[in-house]
Amino acid sequence: MALKISVVGTGYLGATHAACMAELGFEVIGLDIDQAKIDSLALGELPFHEPGLPELLRKHVATGRLRFTTNYAEVADWADIHFIGVGTPQRADGHGADLRYVDAAVRELAQRIHGDALIVGKSTVPVGTARRLAGLIAAEAHPDANISLAWNPEFLREGFAVADTMTPDRLVIGTQDKASEGLLREVYAKALGADTPLIVTDFETAELVKVAANAFLATKISFINAFAEVTETIGGDITTLADALGHDARIGRKFLNAGVGFGGGCLPKDIRALQARVSELGLTHTMGFLAEVDEINLRRRERVARVTLAMFGDDLVGKKIAVLGVTFKPDSDDVRDSPALDIAVRLYNAGAEVSVFDPKGNKNAAARFPRLNYVDGLTEAVTEADAVLLLTEWAEFKALTPEDLEQLVASRRIIDGRNVLDSAAWETAGWEIVSMGRRYAPLDG
Ligand code: UDX
Repeated sequence: MALKISVVGTGYLGATHAACMAELGFEVIGLDIDQAKIDSLALGELPFHEPGLPELLRKHVATGRLRFTTNYAEVADWADIHFIGVGTPQRADGHGADLRYVDAAVRELAQRIHGDALIVGKSTVPVGTARRLAGLIAAEAHPDANISLAWNPEFLREGFAVADTMTPDRLVIGTQDKASEGLLREVYAKALGADTPLIVTDFETAELVKVAANAFLATKISFINAFAEVTETIGGDITTLADALGHDARIGRKFLNAGVGFGGGCLPKDIRALQARVSELGLTHTMGFLAEVDEINLRRRERVARVTLAMFGDDLVGKKIAVLGVTFKPDSDDVRDSPALDIAVRLYNAGAEVSVFDPKGNKNAAARFPRLNYVDGLTEAVTEADAVLLLTEWAEFKALTPEDLEQLVASRRIIDGRNVLDSAAWETAGWEIVSMGRRYAPLDG
């Protein structure tokens, strides 16, 4: 008989996991405490943008393999395996992760399960959480329940969530018993059959793999952005430097793009939570470099704001600035910790009239900062602009040529925050173009 699976938390991670489990042939119930979210998912509607996921969701709502509920009692004894995919946001009072949703989900299940069940954490948590949760389960479970716990971190990227779940580059399972490993091998049989590497380990290692991966990626981006600060001062070409470094297979070219820095719902919060957790363990200095990684990252936003101000003699009052792209990366509608949105707000606060166009992100950005002037198209954004800022590398912005804009703008100034334009071509066409990692005379001499 096919395994019955529940997925607790139907945000970005949970909704993707639930739909993919149904696609693999399992019977699935997604649970969330947010009734509105559940109602829209049950209709096959996603509250966020993710390519390929709405189709999968509708397909399996229609086949009946995928259902949604807000009722813990309904899932507790029904499912064989309960995946936990609730959020672990940054705490309001510090850098640590807020574990209240993970704790609540595990407690709600543990108090209702009778018989055998496996709870599998997928959320990104501070090291030590799984072992603590195992204790919580033991304390709260019914005497007739036999509940195991495993940790199985998720590495999915926004924009590629379905592919990253269906064909992951590796599977990591933190477990204390062979039976849990066996069940998860059954869940992931298809990927394992395609020779996906499987790492079976203890709780702590499984928890650390996820945060270490994100810390490494964040460090790689800040590493190249630190060199961008150097080339901005002494000269040189940051993209050529990255290309040359990337030919060394030990280094690799990926995640060496200098620009406005990283954002999103994972990298910034995960490096802060890791530092906070490691400090709690008494290792105050061990992850100190991540504070620098964070600082370098935030200085990129400040730099773009300073360059824009310097373009206009430090006075932006009455200037129209067109911001192209407001999401933290292309092919997403996510504006959490978005460098682009942060820069747009800084310029607005400095007195500029900021008109923003993003193919998918306007709505979420407007919910956070309603005062910017959100427009529905690129043409409207750049018309009569005193400067154009390309801050998220959507394909349609990468394809822009000087000819596309020159009749529309008030003056030919462009900042390429992602180093995706051919700066020589723009200069030849009479534009002032400022790329990342390039000297800008009014600032850098
Ligand atoms: C990340 C991890 O990649 C994923 O494995 C994890 O599960 C969740 O966090 P995601 O947040 O979707 O995924 O974004 P990612 O594609 O990693 O990009 C993160 C940020 O880094 C973006 O703001 C992007 O613009 C920026 N970035 C990326 C750079 O500035 N330069 C680069 O070279 C690469």
